[in-house]
This record gives sequence, structure tokens and C-alpha cells, in this order.
Amino acid sequence: MLKQEIEDGQASLADPAFRQDVLRGFDMRPRAIPARWFYDRAGSELFEQITDLPEYYPTRTETAILRACAPEIAARAGEGRAVVEFGSGSSTKTPILLQAVAPAAYVPIDISGDFLRESSAGLASAFPGLDVLPVEADFMHPIALPMQVAATPKLGFFPGSTIGNMIPHSSVDLLRAMKESLGEGAMLVIGMDRIKDAATLEAAYDDAQGVTAAFNLNLLTRINRELAGTIPVERFRHRAIWNDDRARIEMHLEATEDVAFTIEGRPFEMTAGETIHTENSHKYGARDARILLRAGGWTPIAEWTDPEGKFAVILAEAQAARLAP
Ligand code: TRP
Repeated sequence: MLKQEIEDGQASLADPAFRQDVLRGFDMRPRAIPARWFYDRAGSELFEQITDLPEYYPTRTETAILRACAPEIAARAGEGRAVVEFGSGSSTKTPILLQAVAPAAYVPIDISGDFLRESSAGLASAFPGLDVLPVEADFMHPIALPMQVAATPKLGFFPGSTIGNMIPHSSVDLLRAMKESLGEGAMLVIGMDRIKDAATLEAAYDDAQGVTAAFNLNLLTRINRELAGTIPVERFRHRAIWNDDRARIEMHLEATEDVAFTIEGRPFEMTAGETIHTENSHKYGARDARILLRAGGWTPIAEWTDPEGKFAVILAEAQAARLAP
């Protein structure tokens, strides 16, 4: 085989959407690559480690809040709803909610089929008798739920402050899509990380052990492996920066010196100090969170925080369209 044919053969193994996002991302100014590409096997494992880090307070804080407020959520939502989780985690949070609300069914939605099957199997065995109905789909668009739950009132579950990983425009689109997917009478339990001092926030996304750095840098390793890249990964460093104007933590990969490399044969250059923007994590004050929900068609009806007010879990209800004030 000719060298070119071998290269073409390898290139065809790469996900075309990954290739397109990476090549476009390097052409943009500022450079940016969508965060969804973090999660190859190594990335997913590193992310699990992040949730256990001493500096990364959101996971344990939200879990503690859910433990405390689950009975009240159950009282307000009533029994026999279908719990619909957006981006089904392998987390410990889901069982807390399922235990409390005694649902008629559990519908995890995830874009990754493998992950979905693994976590569904785990939950089905932990809750024998519960109807687990996984849906492999991109939850950014309205989703047709399984017909078994067509007539069942829904309780949406969107923990982890994942809403914060979208820009506000997209989060409103998502909230509206969720409302459409869940239908009339639906309720939603959503986790949102709160605004706090920059030092706490930056430490949460730049831990002393360097796990978050490894997670961010793994994206470059993945590009090298899957898109025949020659990026000198050791000449990049992880940055986590609080952008106060936009109330978000930004993760970047910064070139520490001038670098030149190729991706699938295409040449790219970066000068020292230039960055690739890889992730946002927006933070919401109490009122910000409520406005965001209302903008997406949801009425907040109850909310819970930890004693220090670091993180919030909000219960909202699908709002009927309304013309007058
Ligand atoms: N949504 C969570 C957060 O923003 C989890 C998360 C998504 C995350 N991407 C991340 C955490 C990257 C650390 C690094 O905190």
C-alpha cells in the first residue's frame, strides 16, 4: 500500500464530526473546540476523578443537598411520575432521587449508547421492578419519549450544573426543548453552581494534583491519536480563568512557546501565550438562576442550597404560555 492510502485509511476511522470541529476550531479566533470531545475513555475516567477532588466541591455539595431535599421533592411532585434524566450519569445522585420519588419509570437520555447501557443496567439491578427505558439521543433537541410513559406525568432531572456548560442562549434553547420533551404538567429538578469568590472557583477547575489539567490536555492527545496530529502536548498548559463579566470559569489550553504542528497533514501555528478555549462553566446567583428558568418556560417553585450557599438545587414546573403580565 502507498503511504497516502494508509493515511487515508486511518483518517477514515476518525469521527468526521470530531475532525470538522477540530479543524474549524483551530481556524477560529479565538480558537475553540467543543467540550463534548473531552470524553473519550481516558477523558471520561479523568472526569470521574475530578468529581472526587478536594477542590471540586460541586459534586459532593449537590449530592448532600439532594439527600436533604429529596423527601420534599417527592412530596411536591407526588408518586408515580416518570423520572427523565438528561445526560444519564454513572453518578450516585440518581438513586437518591429514585429512592425518594417512587417513580413509575426511569428514562435516562444520553448521546453515548455504551455509557447509557452501562448505567441503565446498574440502576435496573439496584431498583428491581422499576421500568428502565433508556433513550439514546442528543437532549439538546426535543425528544420523543418511549410510548410506555406517554400518559405519565414527568419529572425531569438535570444535575451536575451541566446547564452551566452552555452559553445562556443555548441553555434557554435547552430548557425549552426539555419542556417540549416532558410535556404538560412536567416538573424539573435542576442543579446550578452559584457565583462565589474567584479563588474557590479557579481552584475547583485547576486542582493541585493536576487532574483537571490532565483532563484538558487529554484533548490534544486525542487529536494526535485520532486525527494524525503532531501537537507537542508538553508545550501546552491548562488554564482556568474566572471571567467575571460573563460569570463563568473558562478552561483554555495555552501554548507556552511558539509551536507549529499538523493535523491530518494541515499545518497550524500558535505563538506563545495563545490559547484554545475548551470549556465554559457558567455560575448563577439565586435570581440569575430563576430568570434563566423562566426564560426557558419553567417556573421555579422551591430551591435548596448547602449551608454556605455554594450550589443550588431548584425544583421548577412547566409554565403554561401566558400573554398578559
Ligand atoms: N458541569 C460541571 C462543571 O461545570 C462538570 C464539568 C463539565 C467539568 N466539564 C468540566 C468539570 C470540565 C471540570 C472540568 O463543573
